[in-house]
Amino acid sequence: MHDETVAARTADILRTEHPAAETTAQIAARLASAPPLLVAEHLDVTYVTEVGEVPAVRDVNLTLHRGEILGIAGESASGKSTLLNALARLQRPPAVTSGGTLTFHRSDGEELVLSAMTEEQLRRYRWTSLSVVMQSAMASLNPVIRLGSQFTDVIREHDPEVTERQATERAAELLEMVGIQRDRLRAYPHQLSGGMQQRALIALSLACDPDVVFMDEPTTAVDVVMQRQILSQILQLQARLGFAIVFVTHDLSLLLEISDRIAIMYAGRFVELGMPEQIYGSALHPYTRGLRGAFPPLSEPVRRLAGIPGTPPDLLDLPAGCSFAPRCPLASEVCRTTRPELREIGGGQAACHHAGTTEEVTARA
Ligand SMILES: Nc1ncnc2c1ncn2[C@@H]1O[C@H](COP(=O)(O)OP(=O)(O)OP(=O)(O)O)[C@@H](O)[C@H]1O
Ligand SMILES: [Mg+2]
Repeated sequence: MHDETVAARTADILRTEHPAAETTAQIAARLASAPPLLVAEHLDVTYVTEVGEVPAVRDVNLTLHRGEILGIAGESASGKSTLLNALARLQRPPAVTSGGTLTFHRSDGEELVLSAMTEEQLRRYRWTSLSVVMQSAMASLNPVIRLGSQFTDVIREHDPEVTERQATERAAELLEMVGIQRDRLRAYPHQLSGGMQQRALIALSLACDPDVVFMDEPTTAVDVVMQRQILSQILQLQARLGFAIVFVTHDLSLLLEISDRIAIMYAGRFVELGMPEQIYGSALHPYTRGLRGAFPPLSEPVRRLAGIPGTPPDLLDLPAGCSFAPRCPLASEVCRTTRPELREIGGGQAACHHAGTTEEVTARA
């Protein structure tokens, strides 16, 4: 089948079959009335290495709402995975949270300062509050344990009162929710196709009814048609079960279709945060517009891709002002000397001296 046809058809699956298809105003109203779930304030993550301290994430401020789907996009090495691991409290040395706080708001009103917890303390909240789906299912599933046991182990570890039989039934239901027949409970991971493994991993992440699922490029390893099927399934499960999602990918076009809000990262910082319609139609930051040119929506006619000229900066030798200035068509003197802070501009947020100015608005066209 011609690529364009596949793309158009699969884009349709997400847009029209998503049970919660909403307008931008509806999404905004829903988020405004949803309580906060995870709040990051001035979060910094540093890799402490022999050649120096790498400032991989800087000053990230974020309120993820209950049930929100937040997409995080950016080029390779912009800090997406580093941030996701910090939010999920999965980071390992040499990465350290070198500044800021991360607070989890339980539904009973209690606030947990995750950034101050030890691994032992965090363990209680893994799977039940915070859950993760990584890029490679084979790296996450245990190759020598049958699929069913991997589910029942997780379920029973977090709720010892559940019997083996009840846990197996729950495992079967979870698999069926992602379109895998229950007889596959007896299979070993390698006996499943790549797409099925990834779907099993998504089902497993939901085993203990988490409040938020962190997903780092969960569909990168599968082909494009399978990718769309998996995304469609994630959206349907989310609509049914109500968990929040933080979804990381370099593919902005994909995020435009699934996210309630999108954060754009560059050199470790959020440079823009907004709703998909704005990011797509009237992005405030020149970098966002560059990314959009590099990943046009699948529903658009095929055209030549415009990459962003230049390369990301060396984190150990960042420019004095805006990190994007050396690659930016709008860069002026102030951009080279003063770092722009993320600020509110007409319903969105951007860290750009020129955002909202006449020249910037003209450049959007
Ligand atoms: N173990 C490490 N030691 C030192 N620096 C690291 C380490 N891991 C990552 N980094 C640096 O941190 C920065 C952010 O990396 P990260 O993996 O978070 O980017 P990313 O946006 O997820 O990229 P990709 O799209 O390629 O997955 C990069 O400059 C990277 O080189
Ligand atoms: Mg990554």
